[in-house]
Amino acid sequence: WLNGYLSALLSPYAGEAPTNGLPISIAWGSQTGTSETLAKKFAKLAKKSGLTPSIINLADLDQSKLLELEHLIIITSTYGEGEPPDNAQQFYEFVHSDKAPKLENLKYSVLSLGDSSYPDFCKCGIDFDLRLSQLGAQPLIPRVDMDVDFDDDYAQWSNDLLAILGSASATSDDDEEETGYTKKNPFTANILKSYNLNGEDSQRETTHVEISLKDSDITYEAGDALGVYPINDSELVSDIIAALGFSPDTDISGKTLSQTLTEDYEIRNISPPLVKAWAESSASESLVALVSSDDRAPLNDYLWGREIIDLIKEHPIDFTNANDFLKMLKPLAARLYSIASSPKAHADEVHLTVGAVTYDSLGRKRKGVCSTYFSERYELAKPRVFVHANKAFRPPSDASAPMIMVGPGTGIAPFRAFLEEREATQADGKNWLFFGNPHASIDFLYQDQLSQLQKDGYLHQLCTAFSRDQETKVYVQDRMIEHGEELWKWINNNGHFYVCGDASRMAKDVDEALLHVIETHGEMTPEAAAEYVKQMKADKRYCRDVY
Ligand code: 2AM
Repeated sequence: WLNGYLSALLSPYAGEAPTNGLPISIAWGSQTGTSETLAKKFAKLAKKSGLTPSIINLADLDQSKLLELEHLIIITSTYGEGEPPDNAQQFYEFVHSDKAPKLENLKYSVLSLGDSSYPDFCKCGIDFDLRLSQLGAQPLIPRVDMDVDFDDDYAQWSNDLLAILGSASATSDDDEEETGYTKKNPFTANILKSYNLNGEDSQRETTHVEISLKDSDITYEAGDALGVYPINDSELVSDIIAALGFSPDTDISGKTLSQTLTEDYEIRNISPPLVKAWAESSASESLVALVSSDDRAPLNDYLWGREIIDLIKEHPIDFTNANDFLKMLKPLAARLYSIASSPKAHADEVHLTVGAVTYDSLGRKRKGVCSTYFSERYELAKPRVFVHANKAFRPPSDASAPMIMVGPGTGIAPFRAFLEEREATQADGKNWLFFGNPHASIDFLYQDQLSQLQKDGYLHQLCTAFSRDQETKVYVQDRMIEHGEELWKWINNNGHFYVCGDASRMAKDVDEALLHVIETHGEMTPEAAAEYVKQMKADKRYCRDVY
C-alpha cells in the first residue's frame, strides 16, 4: 500500500483531482478463465472506488473501439510456448501489425499472468506492454508479471492502479466476501473411487478419480475445471531434508519440517527466479554464469529435467536455518484438472481423468506432484478442492447443434462430461468424438462407456487413432483428414468444434488439419478458410481447453 501511495504522489498524474466516474475499460485474455475472473474482480473494485469500469473480451476489441478508449487495462495470461490465449490472438496480431494505429491518447496498464516454471514467462503481457508503449500509449504504472501464486501481486497492482486513477480511498478488496469454497478456502473432500484406466501392460497410467462433493454445496458445469491441492511425495521430502542436513523434526511454526515440506511448498520444479537466488546464495561460479548470461538457451538446457533436489546436491548451500531454505520456495499451488463428469449425471460428485507423469532423469525417478498423488498417495491426505469455472468451454447452448470433440489422451476428460451432459438432458444434436492413445487394447480410456453411449444414440461417430498399433503413427488429425468430407458437413451445419489436451503439438496440428478440411471440402482459398475459422472462434464454435 505504501508503495502504491508513494508512486501515486510521485506520478505525473498525481496532481490531477480524484476523477470520480472515470471510464476505464478492462480487457481480458484468458484460456482457462483466470484472467477473466480477475478482470471481473478488478471491475467490481474499480466500481466501488468510484470509477466507471467496463469489461471487454479481447476478442471483441477492434480498431474502432480501441481508438475510442482513454484508459485501457489489459489482464492476460500466456499459454503454450509464450502464446496469447485464443481470445486474445486476433487483437495481438492486430496491434503487432503495421495496421496498428498510433495510440498517443491512450493510458494503459498491463497485468500479466504466467507460470515462472516455463521459459516464456508472461510473454503475452510483456509483448502487449512493449507494443502499446511503442504505439505511443502511456503506461499508468509499471506492468506486473504474476506467477501462479498471484494474490499479493494482484492486490499490490490493483491498489497502485486505483491510486493512480484517483481512487485511493478504496484501495483494498479485503472486505470482498467470497462465498463457498474457493482457491483460498478449498473444500476437504472424500475420494469415493480411484482406479487405473489403462491395462496392466500399458506404459501409461491414467487414474479415474471420483470425488464426493456431498455437503459442500459446490456446483459446477460440464467444461469447468477442478482445482486440487495435493501433498508431496514423502521420499522426495526425506531426500531433500537429508541433502540439506536438517532433522525432519525441526520445528517450523508448530509443524515439523517434514510436514511443512509435504503440505505447504513446491519442492520439485525449479524456476529461473529460484536459480538466480540459488546462484547468489551458493556463489557457485557455474550457476552464476548461467543466470547472468543474456543467452537464455544454456539456462533453459540446465533447467530441463532438473529439480530442486538436484540444485541442493549440485550446488550446496550451507543453510544455518531451515527457514532460510523455505523462504526460497513457492507455496504449494493447486493443480487444475478438466472435469470429466456432468453434474447432471453424477449428483454431488466430480470425476477426473488424471494422467500420471513419471519419468527418469539424472538417475532419479521424477514424479508429477498431483498426478502421482492420485495414483499413490491419496489415502494419506484428503484432497482440498475448489471449482474453477471455464465459461468459454461449454457444450453448445443449442441442444440440436452438432458437437465435434477432439480429445486424445487425458484430453478426453471434458468430452466424457459433454457426452454425459447431452445424454442427461436428452439433447438431440449429433456427437462425434476423436480419441487417440498408443494402443487400443490397453489405452482405450472409457471404452465401455463410449460403446454404451453409441448404443444409446448419444455418440454418433467415434474415430480412434491408436498411434502405436501399426508401423506408422496415426494421430487424431489424420482421422480428421480421412473423414474430411463428412467433417466439413458437420462443421458447416452449425457444428461446434472442441479440442482438449496438449497445446504445444497436438492442438496446433489439429488446427492445421481443421484449416485443411475447410479449405478442401468447403472449396475455399487458404485465406478464406482462415477467415472461416476466425469466424468460428468469434461465434464460439471453436473452443479449446489446451495446456
Ligand atoms: P505417441 O505418444 O504414440 O506419439 C495421447 O498422448 C496420444 O496422442 C498418443 O497416442 C500420442 O502418440 C498422440 N500424439 C503425440 N503427438 C501428437 C500430435 N502432435 N498430434 C496428435 N496426437 C499426438
